[in-house]
Amino acid sequence: MKLFGNWKMAQSRQGAQSFAADASGYRPDPLVESLIFASCLQIPEMMERLKDWSFGAQDCSAELPGPYTGQVSAREISEFGVKDLLLGHSECRAAGQSEELLKRKLERAKEASLRLCYCVGESLQEREEGRLWDCLSRQLENLENCSAEFCIAYEPVWAIGTGKTASLERIAEVHLWIQAKFPKVPILYGGSVKPENSAEIMGLESVGGLLVGTASLKWESLEKILELASLEAQKRRQRAK
Ligand code: PGA
Repeated sequence: MKLFGNWKMAQSRQGAQSFAADASGYRPDPLVESLIFASCLQIPEMMERLKDWSFGAQDCSAELPGPYTGQVSAREISEFGVKDLLLGHSECRAAGQSEELLKRKLERAKEASLRLCYCVGESLQEREEGRLWDCLSRQLENLENCSAEFCIAYEPVWAIGTGKTASLERIAEVHLWIQAKFPKVPILYGGSVKPENSAEIMGLESVGGLLVGTASLKWESLEKILELASLEAQKRRQRAK
């Protein structure tokens, strides 16, 4: 079971330090792969403070290192000992990242041996106009010949940060559809995941983990989701026996 947090640009330095202080006693469950995508500035300090945890970057440049003011290269991310990268988040797509640009970012990430969590998801308009599968097919195209290690996070745009979660039927429908295209790839769900709804979402067989935004900012709520992820991972291990 994967439990990934996404701090976006919403975590202050002080907030990150409080999180680290609160989480310092936690011993990660080997059955749950926990990781936080943090801002590049916060990652080194977090890695130092929480040595048992993994931290990933939230984006990378599509370019090789060079004269690109303001950008962070995949190579540099990896030089800091970071192994994971979030790509294709809908907030980045909304800010203008096209499939073509993401394809180049994927190449850079692969060259730097970064593992990817690649996000896809439809807007409300796309869903209402019956364009869900077209949208997902287009967004997933870049992964078809991708030789980097990756998992996929399905995050319906209308569920991100809105308090609205997709119904279990909808999540299962989309996850099974993605799974048919990428049978061996773990598929996460994201979009207003919180302690109250995480157990039932993880209870879906096709859900390989969660990508948690707002509820990952504070240790108190993330800890609850981690406990539920441990329980679900144990159930799955029992069933597999
Ligand atoms: P949310 O964010 O949990 O706050 O909806 C999820 C995400 O954007 O990854």
